[in-house]
Amino acid sequence: MYIIQGGEALSGKIRVQGSKNSSLPILAATILNGKKNTICHVPKIKDIEVMNQILSHLGANIAVKDNVLEIDSKNVNKFDVPEHLMRKMRSSIVLMGALLGRFGRAKVSYPGGCEIGPRPIDLHLKGLSLMGVDFSGGHGFLNAKTDGLKGADIHLDFPSVGATENLMLAAVLAEGTTIIRNVAKEPEIVDLQNFLNRMGAHVKGAGTDTIKIEGCRIEDLKPVNNYTIIPDRIVAGTYLAAAAITRGRIQLTNVISEHLEPILAKLRETGCVINSRNGEIELYVDRPLVSLDSIRTLPYPGFPTDMQAPMMAFLATVEGTSILTETIFESRFKHAQELRRMGADITINGNTAIIKGVKQLSGAIVEAKDLRAGAALILAALAAKGETIVEGASYVERGYENIEGNLAALGAKIVKKDKI
Ligand code: UD1
Repeated sequence: MYIIQGGEALSGKIRVQGSKNSSLPILAATILNGKKNTICHVPKIKDIEVMNQILSHLGANIAVKDNVLEIDSKNVNKFDVPEHLMRKMRSSIVLMGALLGRFGRAKVSYPGGCEIGPRPIDLHLKGLSLMGVDFSGGHGFLNAKTDGLKGADIHLDFPSVGATENLMLAAVLAEGTTIIRNVAKEPEIVDLQNFLNRMGAHVKGAGTDTIKIEGCRIEDLKPVNNYTIIPDRIVAGTYLAAAAITRGRIQLTNVISEHLEPILAKLRETGCVINSRNGEIELYVDRPLVSLDSIRTLPYPGFPTDMQAPMMAFLATVEGTSILTETIFESRFKHAQELRRMGADITINGNTAIIKGVKQLSGAIVEAKDLRAGAALILAALAAKGETIVEGASYVERGYENIEGNLAALGAKIVKKDKI
């Protein structure tokens, strides 16, 4: 749990961690070359620990030193992802594409992860079927098998991030050309493409609607030395929202402001002052803020669903009525009920939240039920009067490296405790 005494305006400078959502598919990609890869700026978070445990189980040798991971996939000789680990993290589904590429086989359970509504994998399975994969299963397991992946022309019904990554990974060692249309355009997809190409793969088009991959043989793939993961735009956005909710002033280093533009645009609309230059972003508040009459989560470059909860916490403190619509995930409003316990005035109507800003949130005992909800509750606590206890630190630790240390360095009164 986090114990937070609210009321301190944040001030100071922090360096943003590497991206979780880039690191995970890139770690999966190390299976493909059967060689030693060194990856830098990997965040020290629970989801990465789970991914490392899975890769070790499969036979990879892993050395971790600070934020540098060395992964040698030469001795990978298993293709089953243990159920207890798969259940901890839905994104482990991307291992399927890499395992099918290297071994033509993969056995996974239906994936777990945060409880944010039904998260099907039909788009992953449809695409892989077109590439020549047969699926069988039962009792929560899925066996995937192919006599050889074949290039295919795949149109995704929705630009799913995970499906785009899984199909890219499968296509690297497929025979012939794969074209994936209506793909996700998130910066993390571009990062994966860059990593794969550093390995010797032929991937083009990431960041646009269509990705084309010319398949190659494992002998053509090289080790990757010192690949640096991009900064985490959601973590950066969370710290900016923390500065905004406390009406403080902070600078972030290690950011790519273009990736943050959809978030910065909305923060600016409320009246926050944001300056960005040379890989740094500064945010401060020097005037009364205004509510947002329309904010919708959308695939990139729209406003990210992962920032929806932190943004809701912030808007709960901004005078006037804000309307926030979640279009990516069902049931991603569980934090609203906890924010209400802290005095927020939020009404949920289907996939829309109507947020009436209040003058002052107040401390309470609240519980995070998913990663970003946890971040949102911490933010609300920073602005609340009195003490707040945020339970569910294990969710927050899935994605934020040392959030309590970073916020404390910015002047927040926050400590993490295992038990009272
Ligand atoms: C990734 C991110 C997550 C982010 C999300 C949306 C990682 C590790 N996680 O998750 O932080 O919130 O993108 O930006 O990168 N869907 C289907 N069928 C499928 C796949 C997805 O219907 O086969 C639906 C999902 O249920 C959801 C929507 O598509 O409603 C978006 O999912 P997707 O883009 O796949 O998200 P993830 O890759 O799971």
